[in-house]
Amino acid sequence: MDGVIYLDNAATSYPKPEEVHDFMGSFYRTCGVNPGRSGCDMALQAEEMIRETRQALSRFFNPSLSASGAGKDPDRLVFTINATHALNMVLRGTLREGDHVVTTWMEHNSVIRPVNHLVRDHGVQASFLRPDPDGRLDPEEIRRAIQPNTRLVMVNHASNVTGVVQDIHAIGSVCAEAGVPFAVDTAQTAGVLPIDMAECHISFLCFTGHKGLMGPTGTGGVCVADDAQVASSVWGGTGVKSAHPFHLDEYPYRLEAGTLNLLGIAGLHAGQAWIGKRGLAAIHAHEMELCGLLLEGLSGIRGVRVIGPRTTDWRVATVSLTVEGYDPSDVGTILDVDHNIITRTGLQCAPLAHDHMGTSPRGTVRLSIGPFTTREEILAAVRALDAIARSGRARAAAQTGGLR
Ligand code: ALA
Repeated sequence: MDGVIYLDNAATSYPKPEEVHDFMGSFYRTCGVNPGRSGCDMALQAEEMIRETRQALSRFFNPSLSASGAGKDPDRLVFTINATHALNMVLRGTLREGDHVVTTWMEHNSVIRPVNHLVRDHGVQASFLRPDPDGRLDPEEIRRAIQPNTRLVMVNHASNVTGVVQDIHAIGSVCAEAGVPFAVDTAQTAGVLPIDMAECHISFLCFTGHKGLMGPTGTGGVCVADDAQVASSVWGGTGVKSAHPFHLDEYPYRLEAGTLNLLGIAGLHAGQAWIGKRGLAAIHAHEMELCGLLLEGLSGIRGVRVIGPRTTDWRVATVSLTVEGYDPSDVGTILDVDHNIITRTGLQCAPLAHDHMGTSPRGTVRLSIGPFTTREEILAAVRALDAIARSGRARAAAQTGGLR
């Protein structure tokens, strides 16, 4: 992929660290057997690697508990195939007919669609809350929306459209005061921003493995707080207590059925080691420095409109924009074909966010920065967008028969 400028890290981080490729390859070559299904040395090593990964991720999402020595039960870190499955698992495992869920207009379809199905087909009630014009939700709106039958609040930590970050600390406090479980979709923030489940009163932290956590696609999970409850919705083999006629209640089995993605979990294991070595704060600082550079460059281009926060406050390094005179998908194609720059265009699976930001139905061009993005790549993207905006203005002038 020489010469390609990859600015689609909100879809998946690319490239992955070499250490992730190396560990996945070597571990699968030497221990690629079914963990928990036999007592041979290789299976025990595979189980041990999975246990270490549960522990590393549990600590990663619970730094204050780990620092206090209280720790977090690593078995309540369960693996799924992606964040969508984790979010579905929490919604289906907590809501019953007559229950109410509070969520927002900034959610991804991985929340909007399951909530809509639960409302249409299972007698669940839902409130979708509108944020401010920049996409930020006032935590007091959550307080006002909570009803006696509210059983869950589910909020997207950072929007995959605009990068806007919600104040999960304040929202978590509201939920804790009201005694309502709080679920957070960290698809855009796990491995990007520090998150502390205990401090933010998070009951269910749903994550994907292939973005900020630097693992491969097909990985994800949910970290369940030690005092939170979620019913299982998939039943099957666990490798233990096989004579039991029903699925096991204990974690992690409660939420895991069937053979785990050993290769993917090896990637998460190496991803954790890589993040630990490089440092989350350093990764974040790098991404936000480049985000600032991008926002500054875009602010000087006539015809380019940034959608959402225009500063680096309360955002991650995902920037959506429109270019006057162009359909966003055409801008994406020009960036790709003429400039070798990969972005994502359209509604990005978050139609309500676009409705709210006024960018439906055509959506935006989204540029998302990752740990391996460079300053030169950002400057090249700004130059490319400047050239596209200029030609957009020239086209508009030609159409109106005059200069603008
Ligand atoms: N949800 C991912 C994105 O925003 C795939 O691109």
